[in-house]
Amino acid sequence: MTIHIGAAPGDIAETVLMPGDPYRAKWAAETFLQDIRLVNEVRGMLGYTGLWNGHPVTIQGSGMGMPSLSIYANELIRDYGAQTLIRIGSCGGMQDKVKVRDIILAMTASTVNSPSSGIFRELNFAPCADWSLLQAAAQAASKRSSAVHIGGIYSSDVFYDERPDLNEQMVRHGILGVEMEAAELYTLAARHGRRALAVLTVSDHLATGEALPADQRERSFGDMVEIALEAAFS
Ligand code: HPA
Repeated sequence: MTIHIGAAPGDIAETVLMPGDPYRAKWAAETFLQDIRLVNEVRGMLGYTGLWNGHPVTIQGSGMGMPSLSIYANELIRDYGAQTLIRIGSCGGMQDKVKVRDIILAMTASTVNSPSSGIFRELNFAPCADWSLLQAAAQAASKRSSAVHIGGIYSSDVFYDERPDLNEQMVRHGILGVEMEAAELYTLAARHGRRALAVLTVSDHLATGEALPADQRERSFGDMVEIALEAAFS
């Protein structure tokens, strides 16, 4: 048991999927895992452990934004020994070729700032995905109908953005989408020698304003969870 996770030692699997939304953790566990049990409900940040094809998996909500994810990822890594951490979440599309419902595998994550920025001082650390996970996810994604993009994303601290010029620079430099957690997950995994990846579903588009209606989310989010699980165990 840690400050923010009520699970007993051994209740958390070495492989952890991390959606931002705790209710998506519940949905993913109920939909894709067998023999699930609730292992955390501190602050309503639900976490479940179960089996996928016989492999133990935990699906733990991270909350929104890098400070929240940092709390859960730190405790999962340092106190529960999580080895493979895969963010499953939504993002805003930034390129014309990236459409709502598409999947993005985040090779790198650019930031203005992250909870880890302080320790790097003048250094611009480049948070990147674990190659073995990225490669396996690309393979898993190629078997599915959703269109998949692999490249850089932007981990922002703000959803309600007041700096359109920053988004313009990201778009200009080929960044595929924007979300709010991956860069810190990649940085923590690097620091502790663990594997991390973000598999994202494009839920809205910054340029077109198109957004995935709530009732159509499940199918695309399902592909994302399956890609993450297959990548973790291939
Ligand atoms: N901005 C930041 N995070 C997001 C977005 C967005 O447009 N869409 C989904 N997550």
